[in-house]
Amino acid sequence: MASFVIFAFAVLSAAAAASTNFLIGVGRYDITGPAAEVNMMGYAMVGQYAAGIHFRQFSRAFIVADSADKKRTVFVNADICMGAQIIKLEVIKRLKTMFNGVYTEENVCISATHTHSGSGGYMQYLLFDITSLGFISETLVAIVDGIVESIRLAHENVRPGNIYFNNGTLLDSNINRSPSAYLANPDKGLYEYNVDKQMVVLKMVDANGRGIGMINWFAVHGTCMNNTNSLLSGDNKGHASLLMEQHMNGNDTLPGRGDFVAAFAQSNEGDVSPNTLGAFCGQSDKRCDFNHSTCGGRNEQCIGRGPGKDMFDSTQIIGTNQFMKGLELYESAKVLLEGPVDFRQSYVNMTNLELTVNGKKVRTCPAAMGYSFAAGTTDGPGAFDFIQGDSNKSNPFWNAVRNLIHTPSQLQVDCQAPKPVLLDTGETKTPYAWSPDVVDTQLLRWGQFVIAGLPGEFTTMSGRRMRKAINATLQSVGMPNGTQVVIAGLSNTYSDYIVTYEEYQVQRYEGASTVYGPYTLDAYIQLYTALAEALVGGKPSPKGPPPVNLLDELIPYPRPVLFDRGGDGKSIGDVHQDVETSYKVPAVVIVSFWAGNPRNNLMTNSTYLTVEMDVKGQWKVVCTDASWDTRFHWKHTSEILGESLATIEWHAGAGTPPGTYRIRHFGYEKPLFEDAKPYSGTSSNFQIAA
Ligand SMILES: *[C@@H]1O[C@H](CO)[C@@H](O)[C@H](O)[C@H]1NC(C)=O
Ligand SMILES: *[C@@H]1O[C@H](CO)[C@@H](O)[C@H](O)[C@H]1NC(C)=O
Ligand SMILES: *[C@@H]1O[C@H](CO)[C@@H](O)[C@H](O)[C@H]1NC(C)=O
Ligand SMILES: *[C@@H]1O[C@H](CO)[C@@H](O)[C@H](O)[C@H]1NC(C)=O
Ligand SMILES: *[C@@H]1O[C@H](CO)[C@@H](O)[C@H](O)[C@H]1NC(C)=O
Ligand SMILES: *[C@@H]1O[C@H](CO)[C@@H](O)[C@H](O)[C@H]1NC(C)=O
Ligand SMILES: *[C@@H]1O[C@H](CO)[C@@H](O)[C@H](O)[C@H]1NC(C)=O
Ligand SMILES: *[C@@H]1O[C@H](CO)[C@@H](O)[C@H](O)[C@H]1NC(C)=O
Ligand SMILES: *[C@@H]1O[C@H](CO)[C@@H](O)[C@H](O)[C@H]1NC(C)=O
Repeated sequence: MASFVIFAFAVLSAAAAASTNFLIGVGRYDITGPAAEVNMMGYAMVGQYAAGIHFRQFSRAFIVADSADKKRTVFVNADICMGAQIIKLEVIKRLKTMFNGVYTEENVCISATHTHSGSGGYMQYLLFDITSLGFISETLVAIVDGIVESIRLAHENVRPGNIYFNNGTLLDSNINRSPSAYLANPDKGLYEYNVDKQMVVLKMVDANGRGIGMINWFAVHGTCMNNTNSLLSGDNKGHASLLMEQHMNGNDTLPGRGDFVAAFAQSNEGDVSPNTLGAFCGQSDKRCDFNHSTCGGRNEQCIGRGPGKDMFDSTQIIGTNQFMKGLELYESAKVLLEGPVDFRQSYVNMTNLELTVNGKKVRTCPAAMGYSFAAGTTDGPGAFDFIQGDSNKSNPFWNAVRNLIHTPSQLQVDCQAPKPVLLDTGETKTPYAWSPDVVDTQLLRWGQFVIAGLPGEFTTMSGRRMRKAINATLQSVGMPNGTQVVIAGLSNTYSDYIVTYEEYQVQRYEGASTVYGPYTLDAYIQLYTALAEALVGGKPSPKGPPPVNLLDELIPYPRPVLFDRGGDGKSIGDVHQDVETSYKVPAVVIVSFWAGNPRNNLMTNSTYLTVEMDVKGQWKVVCTDASWDTRFHWKHTSEILGESLATIEWHAGAGTPPGTYRIRHFGYEKPLFEDAKPYSGTSSNFQIAA
């Protein structure tokens, strides 16, 4: 018997070893930040505070190693606005001790979905924490802890497997929001569309061919939820991930649970909007000015319109489109990845690189934001009188404001031209750095598939030129036919936008936010093709100057919760306004509770609410705050008295099974001078009628 078992095992493992090309691990963990009183990251809008949750945000980690486990790589896709240097530095610090140096800055890539509906304040460079009025350590801790946990989970289940590639075209899900800048590109005639419609899918299976994960790349901003939203959300890509995971894990699996992990990752989305109807003046049917995205000369009223009837509907449509196409490509993926696993990474000081472009010696510049940066975009217009496409504007008032912060040197003005410098972030070092000098450049290789982790938002054409250049280099140094290069945008470090030289001349928002000057893209192309040569040539890449870790210097925005109490003489957890006794679906079930401040406890890997169904006398949880169908709202009724309400909405769709239900609320309350402690509340039972 024993010898038979050993024999069978040997045959099985020989078969598995012969038929799989990689070792693969997948993991997912909650990274949702504070759901109250914290500015949301993305629209740079002061006063856009989080006040609840639409659905939770997650980090999704994929470990890929060669079968001999000689080299490991990690690709992380996080439901946050952007990868950030401080996140990577802190995650790597933890991984190095947890895993004895297996995972480092060189082989871990942390990319972001670019949702504009997550908590902010988690970045180390000052510019990005201005609208959150300082650094919010709770947000950073939630993100770093969650990413580390997702990688730990992936590490625990690394097993033999295979990866299949597929790609296809997804229409009606993205448009160019700066088409007048795109038109300036002389190579535009090579392409059918002014945004990439290509979706790239990797299907991951175990040795038995059973699906374990998917990564999907498609370029589109996470701006379906607009700058009036106050509910934390993963926007269209977060929604697509949860849909795919539910499809693969089964309808009974709650969101954020289940073994199958699906990432909808970001690509060259710099000028790409999900607001597919285009930009209009206010509520009217009048299109904005084409070159400047203005209405009557001003930007505030020019707003991009999504395909849905409101922002939730638009998120659902753009998310579902990506899910459906992703699933189709996943199911039909056949191109097997084969070959080595490898990686190259270098830190680069971007502020003063010399390079030759068309025989001319040029250089990059210290970071600076142009005037049109303050105009914002049609996905979220700026609040001041700035307009896009403004390469020749000099406004005396704003120049005075600018000079209060830092007057740019003549060298900087010349270097950045034709961009008029509004914020000279690269030359401003007080109280600490405003934007990064040093960025992270990285390539991961999985067989004939190469992931370029780019430290910012590449526009459509920038991304195309980058992919083409990397691909050409890879092939010229011996990568096989069929090599595929994908851009993973917003990875590792955030250095704003990267437009082409020609788009830069037009100075729309993306051009004004291309911080290292007109040759930023050319510099990146040279850096990444050098990495590609090193990767295939088996040569090391330079380490480069280490980036600073400013964690000890950051100025926090402390806002402690002093105490919570119930209103109307009620206790925290008591119902304020109860459910009705019966509903005919579709219906919105609403209940409110006296509540504690959500910042007392983020309820990570847990929930502020459950919707429960009576199944033969047992309460079965059918929704949590990670579910699409629920919305958790929180607000103070009196800040001075510490009174607040949590209002829970359950959007029970037409297909909801009839039966008896209840809604529960969970949280932590803070008594004065004591530590916060858990509480809960329960609505009355109600019926969903047949
Ligand atoms: C898929 O990739 C191949 C090879 O890179 C390319 O030729 C083809 O155009 C792509 N297909 C789509 C639909 O983007
Ligand atoms: C899961 O739900 C979807 C949508 O409601 C439905 O089409 C599908 O049949 C369900 N799958 C299972 C296995 O119940
Ligand atoms: C936009 O600007 C271009 C270049 O300056 C100009 O040729 C074109 O007429 C402008 N288009 C509109 C609609 O104003
Ligand atoms: C945001 O979307 C809502 C609909 O959900 C709409 O009423 C509002 O006008 C939009 N606001 C902006 C600034 O886009
Ligand atoms: C980057 O390079 C610039 C110019 O050479 C230099 O002044 C700056 O100190 C460097 N930054 C870092 C973080 O090394
Ligand atoms: C830019 O402004 C200067 C000074 O007002 C003016 O002389 C010049 O013609 C303008 N250039 C363009 C391209 O509008
Ligand atoms: C990659 O480069 C090769 C050789 O230059 C070319 O044949 C192929 O079409 C390129 N693929 C892509 C996707 O650009
Ligand atoms: C790559 O494809 C080209 C064109 O189809 C072909 O000429 C060449 O032999 C191929 N190279 C390899 C290494 O397969
Ligand atoms: C997260 O929740 C799941 C399900 O309750 C549990 O099994 C797991 O241990 C939790 N993870 C952590 C790190 O708390």
